[in-house]
Parts: sequence; C-alpha cells; structure tokens
Amino acid sequence: MKSPKSLQKTLGIGLTLGVVLLWLLALLSTVYVSQNKLNTLFDSALAETAQRIMPLAVVEILNREEPGQLQQIMSFEAHDEPLIYLVRDASGRVLLQSHNADPLIFNKTLLKGFSSSENYRFYGAWAVQNTLHIEVAEPLVQRREAIVQMAASLVWPLIFLIPLCFIGTWAFVRYSLRHVRVYRKAIESRGSGDLSPIETKNLPTELHTIAISVNDLLARLSRALESERSFTANSAHELRTPIATALAQIQYLQQDVTAGPLKDKVQKVEATIKGLSGLSEKLMQLAKAEGGGLLATEQHDLVRLLKLIVDDSQRSYSADRLRLTLPHDGVFNSAIDPDAFAILVRNLIDNAIKHGNPNQPVEISFSINGVLTIVNAAEVIPAETLAQLQHRFVRSNTKAQGLGLGLAIADAIVTGVGATMRFNSPATGRSDGFEVSVDFSLIDG
Ligand SMILES: Nc1ncnc2c1ncn2[C@@H]1O[C@H](COP(=O)(O)OP(=O)(O)O)[C@@H](O)[C@H]1O
Ligand SMILES: [Mg+2]
Repeated sequence: MKSPKSLQKTLGIGLTLGVVLLWLLALLSTVYVSQNKLNTLFDSALAETAQRIMPLAVVEILNREEPGQLQQIMSFEAHDEPLIYLVRDASGRVLLQSHNADPLIFNKTLLKGFSSSENYRFYGAWAVQNTLHIEVAEPLVQRREAIVQMAASLVWPLIFLIPLCFIGTWAFVRYSLRHVRVYRKAIESRGSGDLSPIETKNLPTELHTIAISVNDLLARLSRALESERSFTANSAHELRTPIATALAQIQYLQQDVTAGPLKDKVQKVEATIKGLSGLSEKLMQLAKAEGGGLLATEQHDLVRLLKLIVDDSQRSYSADRLRLTLPHDGVFNSAIDPDAFAILVRNLIDNAIKHGNPNQPVEISFSINGVLTIVNAAEVIPAETLAQLQHRFVRSNTKAQGLGLGLAIADAIVTGVGATMRFNSPATGRSDGFEVSVDFSLIDG
C-alpha cells in the first residue's frame, strides 16, 4: 500500500515550485521588456554619435590637401573604443576611420539607418548630397552583458527564496494544523474500549464536519455494542434461574432413580444442564469484560487480591496444586477493577487446573514490576494454534471440557485495561508446559 503523503511536505514543495515558476516568468518578462528598452536607448545613442561625428568628419575630409586619401584618426592615447566608425565615399572607398576600426566588420553596401551583424549594431547616414557615408558600429557584447547581468541579479535571490519559501510553508502549515495534531493525539491516546465523543473544538472547518461524522459514528457504534452487551448479559442473567431450577430438579430426581439405564440418562441430562450453567456464567463474564468499567477510580493492591483469589481457588478445586510465589512484602497498586482482575485470574487458573497435567503443580507468581505468570505442565501447543487461543471458541487439542471462552474473556479484560498478555508453549526454561503472563505495569489510571 502507498504510504499517505504529508500535507506539510506536499504544500511545501507545491508552493515553492509555484513561487519559483512565477519568479522565473517574471524574470523572463523583465528581461524581455528591458532588452527592448535597452536596445532603443543604445540605438538612439548610436544614431546620435553618428550624427555628431559626421560634420566633424566632413570638415576634416574637405580640408585635406589630398582628398581621397585614407586617414586614420590618431588616438591621444591607446584606449579601448566602444564605438568605431568608417567614413566612405559613394563608391565605398574608405576616407576616414577610427583608429581601431577594421573595415571588414562593416557592411559592404552603404546602408542608411540601423542594421545588425552577428556581433555588431550599425547606424549608417549620408551627408553632402549623398557623397559621404558614415557608418558607426557598436559591439553587441555590451548589450548582451547588460542583459545577462540583469538576469543574473534576478536569479540569485532564488538561492534564498527556495529554502525560505519551503521552510516558511512547512512551518506555517504545521502551525495551522496544530489543532488537528491535538485531535490526532486525543484519538491515539484513548483506550480501545473508549467510544466517547472526541473533542472537535478549534478544528478547521474542512475537518470539523469529518470530526462530527466520526463522533456520530462512534455514538452509533457505542449504542450497537451496548445493546449487544446488555442483550448477552440480560439473557445470561435471565437463564440463571431456570437453569438452577432445572439442575435442582434433576438432582432431586436422581435420588429417586435407582442404578440402571435411566440413572445414566439422568446423569447425562445433569451434565448438560451444568454445561449450560457454565456457558451462561461465561457469557456474563464476557459481557462484563467487553463492557466499560474495567478500571476503578481508586487503586488496589494486586498482590493482596491475587492471594485472596488463589486461596479461594485452592479451596474450590479442593486440590493442593496451586503454588503461589509473591514478592516479599511487595505491594503493586493498579487501577484495574478488582472484579475484572478476579475474573481474569480465575479463568487463567481454571485453565491451568483443567488443561494442565493433574499430577504436576501450577506455578503462579507475581513480580514486583507487575507481571503475573502462571505456568503448568502440559503438552506443547503448536505456535499457529497458540497465536489464535485468545479468540472466542478457539480450543487446542484437549480432552478437557470447555467452551473456548476463557482466554477470550481474559483477553477482553487485558485489552480493555491496557495491559498485555502473552502465551508461551513450551513454558520458559522448560521443554513442555504452558505459560501465560500478563503485564499490569502498562495500565495507567
Ligand atoms: N493452562 C493451559 N494449559 C494448556 N493449555 C491451555 C491452557 N490454557 C488454555 N489452553 C488451551 O487453550 C484453549 C482455549 O482456552 P479457553 O479459551 O480457556 O477455552 P477452554 O478452557 O474452554 O477450552 C484450551 O482449549 C486449551 O487447549
Ligand atoms: Mg478455559
């Protein structure tokens, strides 16, 4: 899947490109306009020069002792002439030329007005009834240099403009999205069971409607889940009394039946009713585990609670298989609801007793940093099954009775309070067995 694009980055790049493009367009049109203006200016200076030189040249030529002789104007000092000129008669004979003028670069034909060659701009004019022709040439290099310098002076600010524009857009978009980030944090930081509406204050209009729809959706989801849960809890609750009555009656009936096929049948019915009773109990637990209220307002010491639950289980299983190791004088306070904690631990102990090797002890320990570990001997469970055990109605290859809901209940509680649960098979440091560990240290509240 393509990873989502950052708005900050896209806008930063897009706007920077836009600004650069606009800048370059402005530069091109500036260069174009300036070039035209410069040409007009340079041209008028060129024409002016030609018209100034002409009368002087005419006087100079007419005053000569030997008219028709070429004469070069001596410079006072060797210097670089930006302008050069050539005075010719109607037949094209050169009569006068500036000191470094090369006749080859001038037009062969005697033209009037402006003309250009590859490297020169010319202005030609006639005088003395079209008998003398002057042509002034100006190298184009100067005009080109002026344009290039101007373009360069407009290009280099881009070096600053590009990073400035990018960083500026980046920072501004980041600033504008600060309420969106708050909104995202509010979603990220809530627990998986929290379906309360999310604060939409200060969100930009574009996102406000989305946030309102999300809240709507959450409300509908919450109502649907709530009705499912209360249906499960209510049905399980309603089933309790008739199941208990049926069980009492069947046990009563059993006393009147003597051994034989009928007794077997009655026993089977009793077992079925007991199974039903277990199912309704588990459904109630599941409804509680998946509902809210898994965190209490005050903290409870889990070490003390665990000790009570294990003592109680020891008695109800009437088997001396549970070995409890607690941190010496340890206290671990947590916000998990004591009932939820009891349901969780009972399901795990129940599994260890039921699925574990009956001749081996079940080791229960609680570390000072809040990790509950329960280990029992059992056949190794394949990794792919192990990863699925916490789903409803998933059971591994086991002979023990069960519904496949115990670990689903445990998982719902663990997720609901923000703790984590891991299964290991074989257990850590053994070649067989099953190990479940729940880390309560991550619960905040
Ligand atoms: N302590 C354990 N030792 C060995 N296997 C276990 C243990 N706990 C759970 N399992 C395996 O995980 C499966 C799912 O457990 P659970 O959801 O409690 O359902 P149930 O106990 O009703 O079978 C069990 O069927 C069993 O195969
Ligand atoms: Mg179980």
